Amino acid sequence: AGIDVRDEVGSTNEELMRDARPFTALTADFQSAGRGRLDRVWQAPPGSSVALSVSMPLPSDPARWGWVPLLVGVALRRSLRRLTDVELGLKWPNDVLARATLHDEWRKVAGILCNVVGGTEPLVIIGMGINVYQSREELPLPEATSLSLCGAVVSREELIATVLEELSSTSAAWVDGSLDHTYRASCVTIGQQVQISLGDGPVEIGRAVAVDEMGRIVLQEAGGGQVPHAAGDVVHVR
Ligand code: BTN
Repeated sequence: AGIDVRDEVGSTNEELMRDARPFTALTADFQSAGRGRLDRVWQAPPGSSVALSVSMPLPSDPARWGWVPLLVGVALRRSLRRLTDVELGLKWPNDVLARATLHDEWRKVAGILCNVVGGTEPLVIIGMGINVYQSREELPLPEATSLSLCGAVVSREELIATVLEELSSTSAAWVDGSLDHTYRASCVTIGQQVQISLGDGPVEIGRAVAVDEMGRIVLQEAGGGQVPHAAGDVVHVR
């Protein structure tokens, strides 16, 4: 299937959700109502970033769906590694982080938003936002960075083509069950002391020790127990 390229849409994820069919791809130079996880907004000036959404069929067993954002993270990291020499890491569950000379700490360079569209044959709309050319002032948060701030010059067209290729090979590896090791090896959350908050719910604190077969992060908590968490907002404490 081809890719639909637009100048402007509200949100590429919302567009694909409206007309949900498998294996479609949509990108836009500008999103007027881009969405992030946990009801946040996702904004970038026209032409400064990659906003790309792809629809894919999901396995019938929902126990496996937790791996989708993780596999997308692997695909994005592989794409960026092919095109740049920026140091990259994955923050569970769905951020790609970069470390550069300009900032000697991990900062977010890409985010992933997955929306499941139910039905007899469930689909996932995978939304990827990659900060490509933004300047410091154009980024919404001090914890964010862009490829150009990391010293990398890439064409958005080439990046989109590479991401589509890597998504297809990475999802094939996921279906074969050969992705877990790759994910764990690039995940910078494992080994960190983290806080996970779930909306208004309690904040869980512990050391992230593993990602389990459902794609959940496993925290070693102070009481001695190991508790898996399926979702949430993660802060690396140290
Ligand atoms: C996050 O980090 O919170 C996820 C950000 C996801 C942004 C992308 S840009 C393309 C797609 N369309 C959207 O409205 N959001 C995703």
